Amino acid sequence: MKVLLTEEELKQGVAKMATSISECYANGPLTIIGILTGSVVLMADVIRLLEMPLRVGVLQARSYHGATTTRGPLIINDELMPDIEDRDVLLLDDIFDTGHTLKEVEARIRKLNPATVRSAVLLYKEGRQEVATVPDFIGFNIPDEFVVGYGLDYEDAYRNLPYLAALEKEDLAAAADQKNT
Ligand code: IMP
Ligand code: MG
Repeated sequence: MKVLLTEEELKQGVAKMATSISECYANGPLTIIGILTGSVVLMADVIRLLEMPLRVGVLQARSYHGATTTRGPLIINDELMPDIEDRDVLLLDDIFDTGHTLKEVEARIRKLNPATVRSAVLLYKEGRQEVATVPDFIGFNIPDEFVVGYGLDYEDAYRNLPYLAALEKEDLAAAADQKNT
């Protein structure tokens, strides 16, 4: 694994994004909806940097199934969502890769009649976009590599790393081998 963003770099990028969010929503109130599970670490850090009146909710979106770094069909579970009718909503996700997740989640959210919907992602993977949707707030642009840590996982592991690391081909192969033994 190679470190892509250190703990300190993440902290600075998240602080910068939180400042932009604060400027955009000024006095609030704001409803932040974190997309589980990858956004948990980002969400905990971002909300503590915001001072406007704030509500927090979550929904789950899953597109990877089993031992893979490629997408499967997207499953959205919005049972834990608060009422967002006429509210300003900010969707929070760990990473924007192809963009399908954010696009579909945004469409689902809009059906619940919020006043506004914007989105913020910690990471934007360059050269991977397959949809027209663009996040309103971006922490970092990163190269096209599979990354873990700071909430992001590979098969549910590594979410607890305080830094962001790129998995190398050997790491992916080793993980696959381990699974097969
Ligand atoms: P998208 O729908 O292709 O934009 O993928 C978004 C989701 O895929 C994110 O919320 C992540 O859960 C997952 N994902 C995409 N790239 C990575 C990665 O490099 N590491 C870990 N998870 C990723
Ligand atoms: Mg995710």
